[in-house]
Amino acid sequence: MEWSCAACGTSWPTTYSFCAFCGQARAAVDTSSAEIDDVLRALVGDQLRTELVSRGGKLPEERRLVSAVFADLSGFTPLAGRLDPEALAEVVDPILAALVRIVKRGDGHVGSFAGDALLAYFGAPVAHEDDAARAVRCAQEMLAEFPALLAAAPDEAAGLSLRIGIDTGAVMARLVAGDIRTDYNILGNSVNMAQRLQSNAPPGGCVVGETTFDLTKDAFDFDHLGGLQVKGRAEPLPAWLLVGDRAPAVQRRRRRTSRMVGREAELAALARVEADGGALLLIAEAGAGKSRLLEESRSRSVRAWLEGGCAPHDSTTSFRPWVGALAGVSSGSDGLRVLRGDPDAALAALPPAQRRDLVARDVASTLASLAPVVVVLEDLHWADQASLDLLDDLLHMLPSSVTVLASSREPLSLTATVDALDLQPLVADDVAALVSDLLEGDPPTVLVHDIVRRCGGNPLYVAELALAMRERGLVEKLDGEVLVASASALEGGALDLVPNSLEGLIGARIDALPNAEERVLTIAAVLGAPVSADLISAVSIRLALPHQEIGAAIDGLRAARILDGGRFVHAVVQNTAYMRTTRARRRTLHLAAADSCHPLIAAEEQAGFLARHLYLAGAGPRAVDALEAAADQALELGRHDEAVLHLRREVELRLGSSASAAQREAAPQRRVV
Ligand SMILES: Nc1ncnc2c1ncn2[C@@H]1O[C@H](COP(=O)(O)OP(=O)(O)O)[C@@H](O)[C@H]1O
Ligand SMILES: [Mg+2]
Repeated sequence: MEWSCAACGTSWPTTYSFCAFCGQARAAVDTSSAEIDDVLRALVGDQLRTELVSRGGKLPEERRLVSAVFADLSGFTPLAGRLDPEALAEVVDPILAALVRIVKRGDGHVGSFAGDALLAYFGAPVAHEDDAARAVRCAQEMLAEFPALLAAAPDEAAGLSLRIGIDTGAVMARLVAGDIRTDYNILGNSVNMAQRLQSNAPPGGCVVGETTFDLTKDAFDFDHLGGLQVKGRAEPLPAWLLVGDRAPAVQRRRRRTSRMVGREAELAALARVEADGGALLLIAEAGAGKSRLLEESRSRSVRAWLEGGCAPHDSTTSFRPWVGALAGVSSGSDGLRVLRGDPDAALAALPPAQRRDLVARDVASTLASLAPVVVVLEDLHWADQASLDLLDDLLHMLPSSVTVLASSREPLSLTATVDALDLQPLVADDVAALVSDLLEGDPPTVLVHDIVRRCGGNPLYVAELALAMRERGLVEKLDGEVLVASASALEGGALDLVPNSLEGLIGARIDALPNAEERVLTIAAVLGAPVSADLISAVSIRLALPHQEIGAAIDGLRAARILDGGRFVHAVVQNTAYMRTTRARRRTLHLAAADSCHPLIAAEEQAGFLARHLYLAGAGPRAVDALEAAADQALELGRHDEAVLHLRREVELRLGSSASAAQREAAPQRRVV
């Protein structure tokens, strides 16, 4: 590396402290911030750089759900024995560089290289809602591109092959400061398991573990390999071999579906638009039931439906939802050729405005020729600009025999006016019906209340949570009745109950928050709802956080519809934020909560608040005293369930049981409600 003299511009090696030509001293920092940025990017990767910069060089220790991809070049060792290191690098470097590009394309993080192997993570330092699927897609692309990489490599590479293992699981993600440098480190069993799975993959194959399979089986096809015997594990490790993509139609048919509940008014509204023509935009958060509503409308319709949508991993492909919707249409008009990315030279050379116009006119006339028809464009919050422009143009020119039904998580910015339908959360009765369908029995009211509190009427959350509760043994079925198996866990909050299938979705939302909001979210999650701004401020002052940002951060969380007043819109978001926080940090936060609550919590809530936080802080004798006092007070106030919870916890602490609080909470204790 060289530096350039600021006075005369001559370049010198970095060992020179002065310009040997004009004598000017080398500036203390002669690297521009853009260069520092480039170096940082090169050393730690884009994501980590962005996170580090936005958080002032610090990263919190976090528990995260991560999909680890272990890709190994087999046949490397004999090659390394045969070749001179420099020749070896010539063979391997371009291949590894290409694999790294594939990881980055999926917005994954390259964790490490070990000679011939690459370890990549999806889910840390940044979560996406589909990290497991991104990991599988990454493996698929690596395997697909590998033959071409080999063909381009020197002859010596001929014997190499690529084998990949993927495992998904909870990890600790943190910066670890060593003597020489600081590393971003991911610690967890899934990293080892990915390697074990890889060693069981055939050349050119990818083997995944159970959680990865569960999270991605709707989108990909796998062959079950049975249980693998692996080092360091007593039981066999269930594994699946990746076979390929699943066609969208098959994906839809195989998806676990519950009975349709509620939504009668919405179905009627959709039927009206279908009859009258025009467009309707469904707006609601992820999992609210946009796709299901469209599916149900389609099943009740007699018209032809053309369906297309956008994908979270791809917001750059032009016209993606339109290409999907028009896939079965054979028209080869100029506009459709442009839309499909297949223009001839003359079309490609058209000025953009003219091209846009041509596409809109040709798509409009194609649709008119197919009328009456319903066009569905799903998930337009991920749409590329060209798709939105086309929708905008068509809204001005479509005949009433063409209906456009679109969906998005957020309002779209279009110039044309379009009717919007805000899909509301399911009401409690519908939630109860959904739970009853999924658990195959009538749920007790406490369970429905708990699920509504956690899920706020979001059907995806409801479905995943109900199934996770059954898996965890919190609910069970006896003689056709659904019972709450662990009442204490529900009363205690089962704070860490977040199904894997939701963790990515919610984690991605949390990761997208500005730094201050994320920190306040953690405090609010530990405090438990309802949260007052004063209490959050008091805790953050105690923890030496910059409390001047608190008010704005709370406003931000409200604007993001995470908090509503002092409550969490979905307690499952609170649970996710709680679960991400390391146990040690949770204890610190619980203790700070207990120490800050004095003037800020209403007198009749104070004993309970203290007891709960001191217990969760692991505060020993202080917690015992507080639990006793809280139990007394709860009894006086006639809150019997609460008193039982405090007493149970008190007994647990007095007995000094070695079992952790979390284990106790999850222990099944049947209660027939
Ligand atoms: N009204 C409903 N009745 C029963 N299940 C529903 C209903 N709405 C949504 N679901 C289920 O909830 C999950 C999420 O719904 P989905 O339509 O995919 O949400 P979105 O498209 O808004 O992200 C799906 O499994 C779906 O079958
Ligand atoms: Mg959807």
